[in-house]
Amino acid sequence: MAMHAIQAIVLAAGKAQRFNIGKTKLLFTLCGQEMIIYATKVLEELNIPTTVVTGFQGNLVQETINHYHNNHIKFIEQEKQHGTGHAVLCTRSAWQEDHILVLNGDMPLITPDIICTLFEEHSNNNASISFVIAENTELKSGYGRIVKKDNAIKIIEAKEFSGSVHEHPFINAGIYLFKRTFLEQYIEFLKTNRVSNELHIPDLVALASEQKKPIVTVTVPFDDIRGINTLKELWQAEQVKQTNIINHWMENGVRFLMPTTTCIDLNVCIGAGSVVEGNVSLLGNTTIGNNCHIQQGARLTNVILADEATIQAYSVIEETNIESNAIIGPYAHIHSKSHIGEKAVVGNFVEIKQSTLDDKSKAKHLSYLGNAKIGKEVNIGAGTITCNYDGRTKHQTTIKDNAFIGSDTIIVAPVTIAENSYTAAGSVITQDVPANALAIARSHQTIKEDYANRIRKPSEKLSKKMVKPTNNHEKIIEP
Ligand code: UD1
Ligand code: MG
Repeated sequence: MAMHAIQAIVLAAGKAQRFNIGKTKLLFTLCGQEMIIYATKVLEELNIPTTVVTGFQGNLVQETINHYHNNHIKFIEQEKQHGTGHAVLCTRSAWQEDHILVLNGDMPLITPDIICTLFEEHSNNNASISFVIAENTELKSGYGRIVKKDNAIKIIEAKEFSGSVHEHPFINAGIYLFKRTFLEQYIEFLKTNRVSNELHIPDLVALASEQKKPIVTVTVPFDDIRGINTLKELWQAEQVKQTNIINHWMENGVRFLMPTTTCIDLNVCIGAGSVVEGNVSLLGNTTIGNNCHIQQGARLTNVILADEATIQAYSVIEETNIESNAIIGPYAHIHSKSHIGEKAVVGNFVEIKQSTLDDKSKAKHLSYLGNAKIGKEVNIGAGTITCNYDGRTKHQTTIKDNAFIGSDTIIVAPVTIAENSYTAAGSVITQDVPANALAIARSHQTIKEDYANRIRKPSEKLSKKMVKPTNNHEKIIEP
């Protein structure tokens, strides 16, 4: 059913006291997205014009919402937080449509279907109030309970509820659809609750019931409307969201070896045939191709990984594109807009920052490559370091196709090492190396024959016969 003549009010002004952190709970993330954005995105998907009530840390909440919604959402400030009823009252000047949908901002598992069904039932029954409920006989705190007696219905908050949860198995979700005319007439009659000293939206249900107005309830699974008032509830809701995300990717052909230890953010995509081992985190807008293998403990944030690539254990990769069949890790760190080519290999304890390592190039052991443009089929020897920073500016290193960088080469940027050239192991390269050349930039080895004997006490000296002389005074390979 198409929804029309409806607008939404989302409540996001509360102090989040039960979080005990002094920050608004609405900006805590679940699976990489702030709590409040789950509600605003559902409303955007349904094309419902939305006003968000802000108060506690309102600027931060507004900034985050604007970031996601391009300034398409309106805000109204609730300067002092006198409860959910007061928050709705503050929005009075914005009521225009025939139906006003009010949502708590702390329900990140909400789905568009819930709103659609609520609107349908509300319209079909010409209701004054329609609201969402869920069955839960375990929780004794945190939710208002639905109490029906004879033909009357009301919501009693957990702190005041003394009845049996089995007799009253339904809780209030915090999603209400009001006829605007009802809200305009009756919101004035809300009384301050004597326990909380606040105005409560749920008391409008009792008012409607007393006035014999048509009231509709829509029942949904509890998991879909979990409210988050404590860090424990945040963790529980994130588990539900995480399980849904992993189930989705399993259904699409992704194998998870230890799914309960894996974190996959909301916007991550994973190709069929890929395997994700335990304790892996795939975060932000990471995209994994088909038939990739992500080993134990890897953490990828905003990474684009092409098909058939392997990320070995405990590698940390951020803001990087990796082409197909590349092999990374174990224990590699690649970040800051780097690009790793097809069939390239990055091995253990290699850090790559803002650099390109093109197709079939290899940096297999213990290196730092920063601000470097490295061509195809280059071999980076163990212990190579690009000295990219002079204390003030970052400088570029260029290593062209087929170059061979000897182990422990120190490359003092800016410098270019041309095609097919070599650097000798242990060199400090400060000047450009021409194509096909060998650059040796280290002191020659000196051998002092019989040195050990000269520094020994007479009693420790070895006889001349036992000392084997050597002629290898210099060892430089000239290819
Ligand atoms: C509320 C309901 C409860 C329901 C539960 C569902 C009331 C009084 N109780 O309780 O019946 O079962 O949600 O999760 O409504 N807020 C404001 N301004 C305020 C106070 C709160 O904007 O002055 C916002 C909060 O930021 C939050 C939402 O309103 O997003 C709900 O407030 P919260 O304190 O979480 O209400 P609950 O105690 O969970
Ligand atoms: Mg709540």
